Amino acid sequence: MPDHFFRVPGDFIRPGTLTAGGLQAQRDRFAADPEHYWRGLGDSLDWIHEYSQVKDVSFDRADFRIRWFYDGVLNVSANCIDRHLRTRADQTAIIFEGDDPGVSQHITYAQLSEAVNKRANLLKAHGVKKGDRVTIYMPMVPEAAYFMLACARVGAVHSVVFGGFSPDSIAGRILDCQSDIVITANEGLRGGKTIPLKANVDLALLQCPNVRHVLVVEHTPAHYLTHDGRDISVPKALESMSADCPPEPMNAEDPLFILYTSGSTGKPKGVLHTTAGYLAWAAYTHQTVFDYQDGDVYWCTADIGWVTGHSYVLYGPLANGGTTLMFEGVPNYPTVSRFWQVIDKHQVNIFYTAPTAIRALMRDGEAPVKASSRASLRLLGSVGEPINPEAWLWYHKVVGDSRCPIVDTWWQTETGGILISPVPGATPLKPGSATQPLPGVQPCLVDAEGKVLDGATEGNLCLTDSWPGQMRTVFGDHARFLETYFSTYPGMYFTGDGCRRDEDGYYWITGRVDDVLNVSGHRLGTAEVESALVAHSDVTEAAVVGYPHDIKGQGIWCYVTLKQGVEGTDALKVELRNWVRQEIGPIASPDVIQFAPGLPKTRSGKIMRRILRKIAEGDTSNLGDISTLADPSVVADLIEGAKGLG
Ligand code: PRX
Repeated sequence: MPDHFFRVPGDFIRPGTLTAGGLQAQRDRFAADPEHYWRGLGDSLDWIHEYSQVKDVSFDRADFRIRWFYDGVLNVSANCIDRHLRTRADQTAIIFEGDDPGVSQHITYAQLSEAVNKRANLLKAHGVKKGDRVTIYMPMVPEAAYFMLACARVGAVHSVVFGGFSPDSIAGRILDCQSDIVITANEGLRGGKTIPLKANVDLALLQCPNVRHVLVVEHTPAHYLTHDGRDISVPKALESMSADCPPEPMNAEDPLFILYTSGSTGKPKGVLHTTAGYLAWAAYTHQTVFDYQDGDVYWCTADIGWVTGHSYVLYGPLANGGTTLMFEGVPNYPTVSRFWQVIDKHQVNIFYTAPTAIRALMRDGEAPVKASSRASLRLLGSVGEPINPEAWLWYHKVVGDSRCPIVDTWWQTETGGILISPVPGATPLKPGSATQPLPGVQPCLVDAEGKVLDGATEGNLCLTDSWPGQMRTVFGDHARFLETYFSTYPGMYFTGDGCRRDEDGYYWITGRVDDVLNVSGHRLGTAEVESALVAHSDVTEAAVVGYPHDIKGQGIWCYVTLKQGVEGTDALKVELRNWVRQEIGPIASPDVIQFAPGLPKTRSGKIMRRILRKIAEGDTSNLGDISTLADPSVVADLIEGAKGLG
């Protein structure tokens, strides 16, 4: 074995840990009889009516279908709660750690059951039926989990909107999925500050006359009932709700949730996941990738507003009868030791976070980490963006005391769960590589013409066949689904990522090859930022590209052309930055605004982003052919203007 591999220490292996032999046996079973292999995943769920059909998939656009376990009937909340009650009623399901270090709570499966049943009845009492869309805009508190599971219990489709999004972004999502119920909290708490969630909803609803009710959770003492008849106090309404709400029987392919995510064009799209396949994949991957076993305390730091929060804070861990920690706060409040203090306080065994958090904490050095014990940790995870080897090594050595393996997990909102990742008791690690596909996952690398590339190579990452957790459509726009994912390389799912495969068959994700940015692990379309900028009255045109950023992975560089007569001042830069934050949310805050009298365009008027990217990266020695530009002289001006900005 070459010495660039990190071997997992022998004492990591426990009885039941999947080892190299066990993983190979799974791969062999899949190769020999895929249907039988997939049946193993389907059988891990609790069915109201057993399924007999396993898989019906065609990626051919003329005859397109993706169905898994499709004649079965089940309920996700029954799988995450009811089936555990016989053996785990008193086990902690959720540990809540508040923004304030003095606040924490243990919620048992019995308590979770009562909470979810009551809220399911509350939804029904307000007219929510199977198939209805319910928008959830909440802080990271147990109520968010209760309501997501309550939706699943009554067969409603939740659409969780990240609590950092602006009123405009909320409104767009509510209107797109035609949701007429919104669930929120009066306020959120993050880093000692309050977030005006209900006030944001009030503003959003000025654009959404279809919304009948806003159910409001009380999280702080702030007043929140502003609209008689529309606004409902959750604590008050719960007083009269029964703790018994039978789970709605759902077909395996009935929708479970919609989650909006950014694409390379247009508005964010509503990624739709269905019931059985999604849950089976979330549960299988949570168990396999994190070696999750009974009694483990597991903490994924993602917000419930992202897919990682859906699959690996909530659905995967609870389907497995696990104990999952929900953290409301931020890594640096009240101090930069907060993560490590929480690990000690709750004796966390498995810790899953994003490279951007690791890189930010690295800046503060080892001392704040070493001030904690972290002896309970056995496994570390990384998700959301490429982890640079330097950050990987720091995570391994400093946080994990060189004991804990790291699983670098590659996946997407669209994939529902992890597809490429080490299996920690089985896969030798390489810092910076997501290593190998999980059994049943069939990636391939293709060149620009769609030719499949073999061996050690670099290309665009596709999947040649389905897996149960795959998204089924873009809500309300199936044509966009087919166009986005299945038209670039016919017959394959195109991920939008570039990737290298090395001589050991290990995969190294190199980042997006489309106009999607990944800023601090958050996905953002360049088109979204551009349309926010041009909505400002001083702006005529904007082009947005990503550039390498030490902490965030990618930063947002905006080239902005101003209206005739408007002066490009520093004050205007501040105003534009605030404008974008207001239009989309703080995650879209531009890092660099460069006023550009002209943009490099072809004679047909298409902006040459390749050139703008190079200028933002500071790599101007090889700009390629610029002779086809309508006005090549703008390039020199942009290079000059970019100096000292990044
Ligand atoms: O570019 C890849 C990157 O994040 C994108 C998916 O973003 P999103 O749908 O928001 O889901 C994030 C949580 C799964 C991918 O197309 N990405 C995700 N995980 C990794 C990654 N890039 C490199 N390494 C990863 N482990």
